[in-house]
Amino acid sequence: MVNLEDLGFAKGIIFETIVSTYSSQGSPNIAAMGVLQLDSENIMIRIYKSSKTYNNLVSRRCAIINLSSDAALFYKSAIKDSYVRDEISLDLFKKGDLVDAPELKRADATIEVLLSDIKDLDSERAEVYLKTKLIKIRNYFPRVYTRAFSAIIESVILATRIRLLSVGNESQKKKASKMKEKIKEFEEIVKRTAPNSEYDNIMFDLINKIETWLGN
Ligand SMILES: Cc1cc2nc3c(=O)[nH]c(=O)nc-3n(C[C@H](O)[C@H](O)[C@H](O)COP(=O)(O)O)c2cc1C
Repeated sequence: MVNLEDLGFAKGIIFETIVSTYSSQGSPNIAAMGVLQLDSENIMIRIYKSSKTYNNLVSRRCAIINLSSDAALFYKSAIKDSYVRDEISLDLFKKGDLVDAPELKRADATIEVLLSDIKDLDSERAEVYLKTKLIKIRNYFPRVYTRAFSAIIESVILATRIRLLSVGNESQKKKASKMKEKIKEFEEIVKRTAPNSEYDNIMFDLINKIETWLGN
């Protein structure tokens, strides 16, 4: 029986995943989320209560945690109106074996989880506690690492913040512009390590989006 540690999870470390849920109407949703392992069976996500994922978790009380090293999938699951190689369509999903949530057919591994508890952190965020029910490995091949992947992930995280700050007051907008400068550094890494690639396309699209949000 595969366990969380076999997948590389370790207590106290946040791992980046893609969480898939069904809405109350039954449409599949994906969102990039950081997952913290608590013990051999339990994990926790700190999640914005305004997110669809939070609302779907509250209504369906389950989810599937998808492990992937597909940068485009992370991009699309964080910035929903973004460019990706192919659109997120219904045939990317199949229903989980044990829980009422969609799994991503192209994930490297999936973890089916049930909601065990929710604790409010503040007015905006909550801690969502999840219990592992089933782990499935879909891809037995190791994946080679490129710095471009990490550069994209860091940039997308910054972009989700920039988007929020860009509709705020002047000091928040200034903060957003500073974050954009940081993304420019990640862009350099992508240009150097993965020129003319999918990573390059994502970065190009992301920076265009940010310029639009900031009104440049
Ligand atoms: C790598 C990565 C990790 C993220 N982790 C979290 C997280 O732990 N909690 C959260 O609320 N949002 C997180 N986000 C932002 C959400 O993915 C983003 O707000 C998304 O649009 C939420 O989608 P939803 O409204 O469909 O749930 C993360 C984004 C990225 C790129």
